Amino acid sequence: MLFNKDRPLTIAYKLTDKSLASKLKWFEHLPEINLIPAEHLFNGTDDIPLLRITNKGLFLEQNGQRLFFHPNMAILRFVNIIRGDGDRFLRAVQLKKGDSFLDATMGLGVDTLIASWTVGAEGKVLALESSPLIFTLVTEGLENMKNRVFPLTTHSLKKQAWNELSQAATYIKTIHTDHLEYLKSLPDSSLDVIYFDPMFRLPRTKSSAMQPIKTWSDPNPIKKETIDQALRVAKRRVVLKERKNSPEFSELGFQTILENKYSPIDFGIITISE
Ligand SMILES: C[S@@+](CC[C@H](N)C(=O)[O-])C[C@H]1O[C@@H](n2cnc3c(N)ncnc32)[C@H](O)[C@@H]1O
Repeated sequence: MLFNKDRPLTIAYKLTDKSLASKLKWFEHLPEINLIPAEHLFNGTDDIPLLRITNKGLFLEQNGQRLFFHPNMAILRFVNIIRGDGDRFLRAVQLKKGDSFLDATMGLGVDTLIASWTVGAEGKVLALESSPLIFTLVTEGLENMKNRVFPLTTHSLKKQAWNELSQAATYIKTIHTDHLEYLKSLPDSSLDVIYFDPMFRLPRTKSSAMQPIKTWSDPNPIKKETIDQALRVAKRRVVLKERKNSPEFSELGFQTILENKYSPIDFGIITISE
C-alpha cells in the first residue's frame, strides 16, 4: 500500500509524445506527489511507480500492476439498466433527475458516472477522492471521455452507453479531499444523497482484480464522525456499501440493509426523509 497522507510519493513519468507535456498540469497542485522524468532514473523504475502519459489517458504502473481510468464497468451497468435488469446501487440511493449527490469515495468513478447519468444536467454530482493518484487518473479520464473514441462496436446499447456516459461525465465535479474535512465545510441539509463505498471491506488477497486500486487508494475505514456529518448534510439519505454482515453497518448506525442473497455486498441505508 503506497498511500500515506503524510509522506510525498515519488513517481517517474514518461510522455509518449512531447505534445502531451501539458498533461503534467494535473500534478502541479498536488504537493503529495513528486514527479520526475523517467529518463533521470539510473536503474529502471521498479522501485517507484511509473506514470505513462499517453493520448489514450494516464496509466500508472508498478511491479506488473496497472491502474487507469476505464469506464467499461459503467457501460455494462448502463446496458443492464436500459434492458430493465435494474441496478442495486440505484435502488439503494434512489436518485432521480435533478437531485444532488455526493460520492464521498469516488475511486474509479463507476458509481459516480451512473449517478450523474441518473440525475442529468439539471442535477449536481460531487465526487471526493483522498488518494492523489486515483483522483488525478480518474479526473483526467472523466474530463477526456468526450474526446476519446469508444473502441469500434456493433453493440448499439454499448454505443449509446458511451455517448450518454461521456455526457454525464461532464456534469461531475471531482474534488481531491478527505471526505470528513469536506463534509464539515458543507451547510446542513444541503445535498439530497450522500454515498460511501470504502476500501476497507475489500479482502487483502494479492490476486484480486482490485489489487491496483488497493495499492494506491486510501484504505482507512469510515469514521462514525463522518457518518454523523453526512447525516447533518444530507436531506434524504446516507448510503453505505459494505461486505454482507459487516459489523460496520451497525457500528456506523445503518439499521436498514438492502440485501441480495446472491451477492457478497450489501447496502446500508439511513433515511432522513422520503
Ligand atoms: C472502493 S473505492 C470506490 C469505488 C467507487 N464506488 C467506484 O464505483 O469506482 C473507495 C475509494 O475511496 C477513497 N477514499 C477512502 N477514504 C477516503 C476519504 N477519507 N476521503 C475521500 N476518499 C476516500 C479510496 O482512496 C478509494 O479510491
